[in-house]
Parts: sequence; C-alpha cells; structure tokens
Amino acid sequence: MDSKTAHSLTEHEKKDKALFDAISPKYLEKDLAPQCSIARKHRLLSSLKNVSFDHTSRVLEVGCGAGFSVKYLDKPYSAYVGVDYSQGLIDYANQYNSKPKAQFICANIKEYQPEEKFDVIFMIGVLHHFDDMKGILSHIVTLLKPGGVVVANEPQSSNPLIQGLRTLRTKLDKSYSDDQVQLLPENLKELYEAVGLKEVQVLGQGYFSTPFAEVVLRPKWIIKVLSMGSIGLDNYIQRVDWTSLRKIAWNVVGVGFKSKI
Ligand SMILES: C[S@@+](CC[C@H](N)C(=O)[O-])C[C@H]1O[C@@H](n2cnc3c(N)ncnc32)[C@H](O)[C@@H]1O
Repeated sequence: MDSKTAHSLTEHEKKDKALFDAISPKYLEKDLAPQCSIARKHRLLSSLKNVSFDHTSRVLEVGCGAGFSVKYLDKPYSAYVGVDYSQGLIDYANQYNSKPKAQFICANIKEYQPEEKFDVIFMIGVLHHFDDMKGILSHIVTLLKPGGVVVANEPQSSNPLIQGLRTLRTKLDKSYSDDQVQLLPENLKELYEAVGLKEVQVLGQGYFSTPFAEVVLRPKWIIKVLSMGSIGLDNYIQRVDWTSLRKIAWNVVGVGFKSKI
C-alpha cells in the first residue's frame, strides 16, 4: 500500500488493518493446519456453489487474506485478483499462493480501480469489517461487469447460542476483533438491494463446520475427523434446504447480480 493510500485510511480502518497485520502469522496457521483448512475450503466452495464460472471469468476476492482461495477454488477462471489492505497477509499470499493467473494487491478496496471489470466478486467474512458497508459495497458493484455477481459470506446474529459463543470468544481470544458486527439475513438482503443488486438470495451456511474453520484445534487427527464429519452434515443440510434453516446457521451467504443493462 503506498503512503498516500495508507494516509487516507479512517480510524476504524487503521485499527482493523493493524489488527490483521499483527495477527497475520496466527491467521496463516488456519490455512496451513489441515483440520482447519478443510473447513475453510468447504466454506468457500459452499458459498460459491450456485455461481457459474468459466475459463473466461475474471474473479476478484475482496479481503483475500493470505490468498488460500486460489488453492481451494475448484472452478476455472481467466484471472483472479485478491485485494487486502494487510501487507502482512498479502506477503503470505505471494509466498504461499502465487500462481500464473493469480495476482495479489495490497490496497484498500474502496480505492481500488482496476483497468478491467470482473464477472465474479466474492468476499468471505469481510463486509462487516467495513465502517461504511453501503458506500464500500456500492463501489464494489462498480467493479462488476453488467450481469456480474457479488457473493458475500457473513457471520449472522439470529442464533442466540452462536452469539453467546462469539461473545465468549471475544473475551478469550485476543486475536479476535472486538468490534465485530453481525447482520441479520434480512439486513444483508436490504443492503444488497440498496446498492442496486438484483435477484438477491440470502442462504444459510455453516451449521456444524464453522468453528473448525475459525480456530486451530488439537489433537490434529481427531479434530480432522470431526471437521470432516461436520462438513458432511453441513453438505446434507445445505442440500435439503438453505433458506428456512438460515436463522440457525453460523453464517449467511448473500448472492446478487448487477443488472445486464
Ligand atoms: C476476517 S478477515 C477474512 C480474510 C479471508 N477472507 C478469510 O476468509 O480468511 C477480513 C479481511 O478483510 C480485510 N479487509 C477489511 N477491510 C478491507 C478493506 N477496506 N480493503 C481491503 N481489505 C480489507 C482484512 O485485512 C482481512 O484480511
């Protein structure tokens, strides 16, 4: 990130960026530990399940962290760009996930102006870090081609049991951001519609597997088996019905399209 861009960060962004720079080695561990990375891969792939990609698709990941989506994605693309304002995480992305069609950029997304627009834009656990969700999401929509799709996977607040566990984690885990905002599924839908996205769908994601994606638990092999079992259960639930069960899920996935004209 150049000094002019760094200078333009809001106080909230400075604090958030500093947190991710400080915890970047710990953050990286989640994608390096197999018992955790399988659940992280599952979260990404289930979020993108209903989105079509092909060999011509240009894909942007907002808040790409250490760039492991490049390793996890099981769909073709012509170009992947990952943008994150944490230099620590972008350095890891370049070290661990460099690939010919992938590029990682250290920038604040609200200032990112690519030469070419994108067919698919996705973000996993990022939207709630923005201090101006509507303003920044509107900017993100300008980066889409007509007919392009935005996918956001977000923690949601409908389930009181999950909210209790999150509050406990805020108290116990110093690397967990203490100004987390969680949206209700209907808030995410309203936000998408407010920025002009069409055919908006909000689905539940992660009923059992999410804790395995968030914390590196041990012993490794026992946790790996439990993590795989939880992914199997989630796949089953998500196949049966995503919408009516979304209120008890850890996360919600918003999918919305930019108008073709
Ligand atoms: C909770 S982490 C999620 C990282 C990654 N998507 C994952 O699932 O591991 C949120 C990420 O968003 C990035 N971020 C937040 N606001 C941003 C902004 N305005 N511009 C660029 N990156 C941002 C942070 O640096 C952080 O890496």
